[in-house]
Amino acid sequence: MRPPVAELHVHLEGTLEPAFIIETAGKHGIGLPWRSLEHLEAQYEFSDLQSFLDLLYVNLEVLRDEEDFEAVTRRYLVRASAAGVRHAEIFFDVQAHTRRGIPAETVIRGIRRALDRSVADHGISTKLIMSFWRDLPAADAMDALAHVLDAGLPIDGIGLDSAEVGYPPSLFVDVYRTARDAGLHVVAHAGEEGPAEYVWEALDLLHVERVDHGIRSLEDPELVERLVRDRVPLTVCPLSNVRLRTVDTMAEHPLPRMLELGLLVSLNSDDPAYFGGYLDANVDAVVAEFGLDAGTVEQLARNSVDSAFLDSSERARLH
Ligand code: HPA
Ligand code: ZN
Repeated sequence: MRPPVAELHVHLEGTLEPAFIIETAGKHGIGLPWRSLEHLEAQYEFSDLQSFLDLLYVNLEVLRDEEDFEAVTRRYLVRASAAGVRHAEIFFDVQAHTRRGIPAETVIRGIRRALDRSVADHGISTKLIMSFWRDLPAADAMDALAHVLDAGLPIDGIGLDSAEVGYPPSLFVDVYRTARDAGLHVVAHAGEEGPAEYVWEALDLLHVERVDHGIRSLEDPELVERLVRDRVPLTVCPLSNVRLRTVDTMAEHPLPRMLELGLLVSLNSDDPAYFGGYLDANVDAVVAEFGLDAGTVEQLARNSVDSAFLDSSERARLH
């Protein structure tokens, strides 16, 4: 039996399974670079973050209308429910769609159609986090945020993702201030490929409530001390880290060290259709590699619930 768990780091665009990509391209008459399902499936070998993003950003072009966004969200929820997920905080990359002429309204309304039925249909409570591409100008993120706030579109928080190195959190201070002032939750990817310095910036300049990945924090003992002291949640994605070669092998993954150091770590799938599995596969991979006992697996699940944007009664329901 898997303990109830929250998934806090999953990109909706990273849940598009190859068959869904081919099927939805057919629906819209979109010519993808892939000749067949097999040709697409042969592309899932990555050398770093950018090589993965290149494939992710081609494939997400099949998402065109509200039905597509609803369908992909629903498919994720079905799969997550089978993995034991009882609460999910889901990222979408707004600029991945608006830059192709798909309005934020279409994206958010489509996703919400699935989220609004998620407790009843899948037993999963949800939050929706709009993520910005950090390798686009901060002014672009600010425009997207202002539009969503002005239009009153329902999101719960903002995040920061895409190519990390060379795009420090400090570029996004104004965007994050605006989001916080609007009452949104704030998180950011930091310390995935980028240095520990970016984690400091995310904490001190963006005032994030959670750090996505954060594994390179271990290179800076003072930062570790700060993260432990303030119980800053780190959303760790083991299969992603191995597939993107952020770590060489699972055996070298820092998860056990992070637990020993007392960091508030949770396990997450990141982009499950690309990295070899959903949350359950991530748990199974670290259990198999490190021989984690049932108590540690329960601790990781409890950490995920403690790291979620839930009030105390919702938290109690999951503990
Ligand atoms: N890092 C940065 N950008 C991303 C990721 C990630 O792990 N997944 C999807 N977009
Ligand atoms: Zn991510």
